Amino acid sequence: MFKGVLFDLDGVITDTADYHYKAWKSLAEELDIEIDREFNEQLKGVSREDSLDLILKHGKKRNTVDDDTFRKLAEKKNDVYVKMIQSFSEEDIFPGILSLLKELKQHHIKIALASASKNGPLLLEKMNLTHYFDAIVDPSSIALGKPAPDIFIAAADAIDCPISSCIGIEDSQAGITAIKKSSALPIGIGRSNDLGTDISLVSNTNDLTYDFLTSTWENNKK
Ligand code: G6P
Ligand code: MG
Repeated sequence: MFKGVLFDLDGVITDTADYHYKAWKSLAEELDIEIDREFNEQLKGVSREDSLDLILKHGKKRNTVDDDTFRKLAEKKNDVYVKMIQSFSEEDIFPGILSLLKELKQHHIKIALASASKNGPLLLEKMNLTHYFDAIVDPSSIALGKPAPDIFIAAADAIDCPISSCIGIEDSQAGITAIKKSSALPIGIGRSNDLGTDISLVSNTNDLTYDFLTSTWENNKK
């Protein structure tokens, strides 16, 4: 049976994936770069700096931006994003997530956060979820971001579980790739068009029950 669950945050625990998109879109518009939701699938799960890099390359403007401007642009996006999440509370937790966290606790399954977001701890506090997490990985301590597996491996280490006895839950292409490489078992939230047909998927977080995780685990270990 699995011993730990490694959670992504944005788009898994709450709807912030959409807020990241809106903040990036408004910055991109200022730079005269067009981004849409399809392009945004590449940004999900990717660090702030790597996201800005992808947007500038998409707009063929990477060479026009020096280090100082790059830093200021990343800061500007974050300021917009942080304003958007100020009013977050328990009401913003996606359906089914709180009951899943409670069920995992009852079954003595360890819980870790493996989010690339430096705003992760703030969001968990605002939603009153911090105490459910046995470990929260600091993304700035991880050299290689998703799609590299490092953050999931660090999360499993932090809860003292072998990575092969963990489930990883993700909504992003980069995150699913990272979980696969880490050798944890991936569960995706989203569409097979975006996340692939070779993993277990739910379209709604309400479906993420302890029973669903258990049967997914058993089916994959047969
Ligand atoms: C998550 C989100 C990304 C975001 C990244 C960094 O992985 O899915 O959209 O760019 O975190 O977030 P931060 O809050 O540190 O800018
Ligand atoms: Mg995500």
